[in-house]
Amino acid sequence: MRFLILSLVALAGLATAGEPPAEGPWSPAAESAFAAGDCALCHDLPDRTPVDRTESCTSCHVWIRAVAANPEARATAIEIFPKWERYEKTVHSYMPVPDLAAAFARLEPAWVRSYLVDPHDLRPGLPETMPRFALSEAQLDALEQLVAQSNVPVPATPKPDPANVAEGAALFAVRGCVACHGFGKLHSGPPASTAPDLVHARARMSPDRMRAWILNPQSVSPHATMANMGFDEAEATAVRDYLVLSDAAAPPAPPLGAAPAPTTEPVRWAQVEERVFGRICVHCHMDPAQNEGRAGPGNAGGFGWKATGIELQTLDGVRAVGDRIADSLLRRRAESHRDVVAWGQSPASLHRPERPGMPLGLPPLPDADIALVLGWIEQGMPE
Ligand code: HEC
Ligand code: HEC
Ligand code: HEC
Ligand code: HEC
Repeated sequence: MRFLILSLVALAGLATAGEPPAEGPWSPAAESAFAAGDCALCHDLPDRTPVDRTESCTSCHVWIRAVAANPEARATAIEIFPKWERYEKTVHSYMPVPDLAAAFARLEPAWVRSYLVDPHDLRPGLPETMPRFALSEAQLDALEQLVAQSNVPVPATPKPDPANVAEGAALFAVRGCVACHGFGKLHSGPPASTAPDLVHARARMSPDRMRAWILNPQSVSPHATMANMGFDEAEATAVRDYLVLSDAAAPPAPPLGAAPAPTTEPVRWAQVEERVFGRICVHCHMDPAQNEGRAGPGNAGGFGWKATGIELQTLDGVRAVGDRIADSLLRRRAESHRDVVAWGQSPASLHRPERPGMPLGLPPLPDADIALVLGWIEQGMPE
């Protein structure tokens, strides 16, 4: 990671100049919530200059892909970073993230609040979910209020009518919606990574706003990434009624299999470093001595969580918390099963452990990697 930071200096010519910060009409509590949750590490915040690429999970990862696609910049990068080709292969998480201006314009304030308290998977095509935060009630109130202020006024529409559902279903199938969207048990296909499963839409949007969006997403927000599908008002109402009224509730996820047993083969540090700690955990639990003082959100505190002092880049750092690692990995495994919330299930009623499991927000480690780490710990964490 040290080399990464240097990269940003060495390849400064590839950077785009930042604009002066804009002042948003945010209350101090909303400012504090955005800062505490480190929202700007992944999302461009409405009315704000994006954070520098050296800090942003999203723009640094996107930048690595952009350099990889540019032969000249790539040649320079390979000269500077011995591991560049590996970076190109590994980096994939947090590259597409939803636009918050488009989200705040259309989503129900109360839904956003409940989602921030207890995020769950929305986009079946996106392996990572939003990390869990530790935000205060005052910070949540402020964000809920900010969303309410950002909601776009839309024309009133007729109440959803069961008589429209059949026509809406037909339009949904033939007018291309299924190319991007899943819809609970009624449609699951290879979804576009940024398109939400529409099973959640009736909880996320008012019927009026949903109709306005289907008619013309850009009328709800200029940041909307969905194209205008060219519906007339009656068609948009019919599709909306299909999305709001049909029974799309998917069955609950099947029960989770037993936790993997520890590997009995001898396991060395180099193996778990390469497959787990150095590949995933280090990105949030850095050793400041090797990273110009930066320690990452899992070590120095971030996403609202207090500093833990947990460094997972060196063998000593990992050994120091050896007794906590298995538990954190198994919690994430159990949690991710819980991330898949079907419509009709209340996220709050589904068990979620008090502390978030690891790796935070990312899919759990594959069982084979969990077995390897458990085996290595059981063998006394040898070098
Ligand atoms: C580590 C990256 C990361 C951080 C930090 C982060 N988010 Fe997100 N956020 C995501 C991802 C990824 C999704 C999409 C999740 C999905 O679709 O399942 C998301 C989704 C959302 C959504 C739903 C939007 C939509 O269109 O569905 C809202 C609202 C949101 N984030 C707000 C916030 C706020 C507020 C903060 C700070 C308190 C924050 N996020 C911090 C990555 C992040
Ligand atoms: C300065 C650039 C930079 C920043 C900022 C950055 N990363 Fe990365 N990230 C990388 C590189 C390079 C790799 C590949 C490292 C390797 O293969 O050794 C990587 C890999 C990862 C991986 C493993 C591969 C994947 O994509 O799942 C995760 C997880 C990750 N980063 C998470 C984060 C999170 C979370 C943040 C924000 C808190 C972040 N990164 C910020 C450059 C960056
Ligand atoms: C090319 C891909 C694509 C197609 C085709 C498409 N959408 Fe979308 N849709 C998206 C994306 C991406 C979003 C998220 C938009 C954003 O965050 O800006 C979205 C958002 C939505 C939302 C908001 C739901 C929510 O939970 O936030 C609704 C409703 C919706 N689409 C309905 C439809 C309907 C109905 C059709 C067919 C007429 C359709 N979409 C066709 C990509 C698509
Ligand atoms: C996206 C950033 C991120 C990634 C990736 C990440 N962590 Fe964490 N980690 C955190 C944060 C933030 C906390 C503080 C949460 C808390 O206080 O419970 C934390 C806390 C922990 C803790 C102490 C709390 C507990 O659960 O006992 C352990 C142990 C831990 N992480 C292990 C890991 C391991 C092992 C990995 C890799 C598989 C990993 N982390 C990957 C951000 C991350």
